[in-house]
Amino acid sequence: MPKHFLMCRPEHFTVAYAINPWMNPDAGADRDVAIRQWEGLKAAYEELGHQVSLIDPVEGLPDMVFAANGATVVGGRVYGARFAFPERGPEGPAYLRWFEEQGYPVRAAEHVNEGEGDFLTLDEVILAGTGFRTDTKAHLEAQEFLGRPVISLSLVDPRFYHLDTALFSLDGRNVAYFPGAFSQGSQEVLRRLFPEAVLATAADAEVLGLNAVSDGEHVVINSEATALQLELKRRGYEVIPVELSELRKAGGGPKCCTLEIRA
Ligand code: ARG
Repeated sequence: MPKHFLMCRPEHFTVAYAINPWMNPDAGADRDVAIRQWEGLKAAYEELGHQVSLIDPVEGLPDMVFAANGATVVGGRVYGARFAFPERGPEGPAYLRWFEEQGYPVRAAEHVNEGEGDFLTLDEVILAGTGFRTDTKAHLEAQEFLGRPVISLSLVDPRFYHLDTALFSLDGRNVAYFPGAFSQGSQEVLRRLFPEAVLATAADAEVLGLNAVSDGEHVVINSEATALQLELKRRGYEVIPVELSELRKAGGGPKCCTLEIRA
């Protein structure tokens, strides 16, 4: 099944501030390299037959490339983002406006939430991260607006500040995750819900290997996550490695650059 993604070319990408442990404004980032790597990701989706729509990047919003944070779209309904840090604040309205212009029913969020960074939609439920960015009040707000059960999961390691840095959906029913990113209680919840899950190593998580995008057959994943790639192949998935090292300097990977528009 082809998917529909929204992406934002990193024309204004830089590491200008530090709102997660990956970011070091003194180390700098190369925008041209970031754009080239991002083009590779976009091409990978298009080769797989997925549709990619683009939102215009806004000057002064260097993290806007991380489209996953822009909203959560389920069943054609758009639940807006409300960012935890003021540096990214204007991205919420920018993404919401894009959806409004395309004719989607939108809802501006009352509570802090960073879109698909913390809301991962499976077939029957939405998994929702909290601990660093998204407020649990937004979990309830999303549940009410989107009409899907939302399961809260607590993140405890600042390197994995969004749920999508620690877990991804393999096929809408099963997931891959790094247990160490979650509280004891949430690890227990994940074990109960997903006894067949793919468990990633710390080394895979540390290269943002869990920030991957699967269409149920193909997994687009950071090239450095080698053990995880092997395990995915063993489970029958086709692995599409991509190189996004420049964007990782801001704490992002393939999934961060990708907002899924679910009809
Ligand atoms: N620098 C961005 C931030 O800290 C990275 C966002 C990555 N996006 C994601 N979906 N995990 O907010």
